[in-house]
Parts: sequence; C-alpha cells; structure tokens
Amino acid sequence: MVYINEIPEHAGKQVTLKGWVYNIRTSKKLIFIIVRDGSGLCQSVVAQDDVPQEVWEKASRLQQESAIEITGMVNVDERSIGGHELHVRDINIFSIAEEYPITPKEHGIEFLMEHRHLWLRSRKQWAAMRIRNTIIYAIHRFFQERGFIQMDAPIFTGNAAEGTTNLFETDYFDRKAYLTQSGQLYGEAMAMAHGKIYTFGPTFRAEKSKTRRHLTEFWMIEPEMAFYDLPMNMELAEEMIVFIVQEVLENNREELEILERNVGKLEHIKAPFPRISYTEAVKKLNSPEMQEKLDTMKRDRKREAEELKDALTALNSEFGQAKKGRKFQIDRKRGEINARLDQIEEDLRNIPVWKNSALGKKWGEDFGGSDETLLTMDEVTPVMVYGYPAEVKAFYMKRDPQNDEIALGVDMIAPEGYGEIIGGGQREDNHEILMQRLKEHNLPEEQFRWYLELRKYGSVPHSGFGLGLERTVAWLCGLQHVRETIPFPRMMGRLYP
Ligand code: 4AD
Ligand code: MG
Repeated sequence: MVYINEIPEHAGKQVTLKGWVYNIRTSKKLIFIIVRDGSGLCQSVVAQDDVPQEVWEKASRLQQESAIEITGMVNVDERSIGGHELHVRDINIFSIAEEYPITPKEHGIEFLMEHRHLWLRSRKQWAAMRIRNTIIYAIHRFFQERGFIQMDAPIFTGNAAEGTTNLFETDYFDRKAYLTQSGQLYGEAMAMAHGKIYTFGPTFRAEKSKTRRHLTEFWMIEPEMAFYDLPMNMELAEEMIVFIVQEVLENNREELEILERNVGKLEHIKAPFPRISYTEAVKKLNSPEMQEKLDTMKRDRKREAEELKDALTALNSEFGQAKKGRKFQIDRKRGEINARLDQIEEDLRNIPVWKNSALGKKWGEDFGGSDETLLTMDEVTPVMVYGYPAEVKAFYMKRDPQNDEIALGVDMIAPEGYGEIIGGGQREDNHEILMQRLKEHNLPEEQFRWYLELRKYGSVPHSGFGLGLERTVAWLCGLQHVRETIPFPRMMGRLYP
C-alpha cells in the first residue's frame, strides 16, 4: 500500500491506494475520482475502454466518501492535484457511503459544527489540523532540545490557579474538586525538582463569554524555570514563537495555501519582538496618534469596501453567461468577498467604540480584545506587554521591587488581531508575602499549603508562562475563530459531537 503523499516516488509504476472518494465526476466513457487518504488527494481516472466491465460498474456505484482500494499506474500530469494522475486498473470497495451531508457547496457554521465528526475530512479542516500537529511537535522539539523535562500536572485540583470565577466544579467522592485552569502551580513544584520543565495538557475554564477566542477546554503549554527572571522568561517566549513559526513555514506550505493564509505576514516573524510596559501601552492608547490611526483605518476600510463592491458587481454580471466550472469559481469568489465585506462592516461599527475606549483607558484597567488589536496594529510581529497593574493579575505574581503596584507579568499579543497568546511572569518567591496575597485574594490557605511550602525549602527566583495552543493555531492558520483549531471544540453551547 502506498500513501498519496508518497506517489511522486512511484511515477510510471503501479500502486495501490486505500482511501475515500473525495469527489467523483462521470462523463460518457470516463470516471474521474479524486481519492483522499489522509495524506493528500490524488486524481484517478477510470476509462471504460481500458478496464474490465466489472471495474467500470464498481466505479459507477461510488459516491462521495465511499471507501475504496484502488490500483493503477502513476502518470505525471501537471494539471492534476499533486501533479500526478492515477490510471485505474482495479477497484475494491470497502463500503459504499450513504448520501454525504457535506457537499462542496456552502454550509452554515451551525450545520458544520453539528457534523464536526465529518467536517474534519474537509480540505481546510484537514489543513488546520496538520498545522496544529506541526505546532505541537515543534513545541516538544523546542523544549526537549533545550533540556526541559516534560511533566504532567493533575487535571483534578483542589485549588484555583487563575481566580475563582470560571472554575468547573466536580463531585470528587463527596468533596469538591475542580478541573484545572492551569498547570502552573504544579509546574513550579516540578521546576524545583528538575530546573526547567514544561507541561502540555488540557486546561478548563467555565467561560460564559461566547467570543471567538474562548473555549471551555483548551490545551496549554506551560514552561516553568528555576532561576529565570522576567526578561529571561520573555526571551524564551520570543524564541519559542519564532521557532514554531519557522517550523510551520517549513513543513506546511501546502496547508497554508489551502487555508489561503497570507504567508508573507508569517515570514516577518523574527526576533526581537517589541517589548512595551503596560504604562507605555496605556499612553499609546490615550494618544492623539491612536485617534488619527483609527481615522485612517476608517478611510482605508471604506475605500476597500467600495473596491470590493465593484468587484462583486462585475462578478454578478459575468455569472449569467459563465460555464459551470467558472460559475463555481465565481461563487467561491463571491463568498470570499462577502466575508471580507462583513469583516469591514464590523470594523467600521467598531472603530468609534475603539476610539472611545482607547481614549478613555485608565491606568489600572485590564486590556480587552480591542486594546490588544490596537496595540499591535502597526506591528508585523507579536508584541510583549509587561508590568501590568498587580490588581488585575493573579495572586502568585511577583511585584516589581521598584513599584509595588506593578506585577512582573507579561502577555504576548499576536498581530493581525489574534490577541493574547501567552500569559506569564515571574512568581512571588517569598513565603510571607505569598501568604499575604492569598489572604488578599480570599483563597483558602489550607489548599495552598503545599504551594507555600515551596517557598520554605530552597525558594529561588523563578518564572514561566502559558501558551494557548488553539489561539496560536488560529493565528498561524489565519482562522477567525478558535472553534476550527481543535478537533472537537468545547464551548459554552457545544458538547456534541
Ligand atoms: O493568561 P492565562 O490565564 O495564564 C495562565 O493560566 C498562567 N497560569 C500561565 C502560566 O504562567 N503558566 O492563560 C494563558 C494562555 C492565554 O494567553 C491564552 O492564549 C490561553 O492560555 N487561554 C485560552 N485559550 C482558549 N480559550 C480560553 N478560554 C483561554 N484562556 C486562556
Ligand atoms: Mg492572560
């Protein structure tokens, strides 16, 4: 058996593929089957004159997603998907599929989400999952090659790492347990045993907000390093992101193309990323330049919308006389333009809101999605914002020795409006201060006894961060919503399939 992505090695030879019918077209004496096998697509041709009647009949019975074994000669053909075409000699049928609910025509997002188990087979979904896989592998490589030990944090926990408002509570033999929001606190214990560790696991947040950036179950990668301060931590985060982007560019050109990702934007991701303090970020938001920039953005968006509408009119007038193939293309193009127009309309609605919120942003307030978008507006790389007001950050953050109101925390914000992908910082390493923080946050000391003890037995300065896998996948794939970045997304309104 040969996989489709190995076909180039078999030019001029006979191969047997096993897979599914991705698409099938029949003409009088030819049947064109596009086969997919998970590794790629291959166009196959059954010619009535070249095969026994029985093979022709089998080919005639096939439907989209029927499962087959197909044997034929590999011919080089520039025009075919993948540059090769299979001249079919034999077909075996594993199963004939019932009429497949997902067809090349457009489906609504709700329909697709209800059919996620099948939607995963579609081209763009396939591409996104391959990129997710590259990212996961790259992360492991990055840390393993730098002497980090991968360790797992528990999923049932007795305490809250990231505030008590979005905890999932479960019944744990008549006690309360929570699904972990972050492996960090355990990561800190493990770093004191191994120096440099990283966790890679599922984390849970009972997010009631239905945004395109929030899942209730998502995967987080959390390195934790003994003897690292905040600047070292930021450097590591930056190096890791550059590494991941490079790996995706190197391994997933085809997938990026399928997703119509603007690859040029990713090629610009190089160190160093801008580092700005929270205080500078607030100033930037408040500045007259920010107001001007948003005015320019408004003008640009309006102009773009006009141009797109003209293009749409031209396509509409062409549609009537167009041939079938071209009609399909036009439909596609119209879909893309309309999606972009929706986006522009949303931006135009948002711009006045953004202008107000930027101007009114006060020191001490946390940043929201729109602030993040504005702060990265002119940047090609992610931006690191450090030194947040301690008030808005978690209890475990160490304070700036120069200014007790500031926490030594950092967020990395992805460009192109993808928002925060990393949160992290330096940890409080003093026992007394940490006790005090627990009190201030109304957290039960008893549940955190073990965590406090880490500060009694060989406490050292240490830091770490958490990378959200799905937000990273969304950014690199250019996907608007995190629901397409994980095989089976869990959100407030979604538990099926
Ligand atoms: O900023 P967060 O809450 O940080 C922590 O949990 C720290 N304990 C991490 C650490 O220092 N070890 O979450 C980290 C990242 C965010 O930047 C975001 O990318 C992602 O996790 N994230 C989510 N992704 C999808 N859905 C959600 N509901 C998310 N919440 C956070
Ligand atoms: Mg955060």
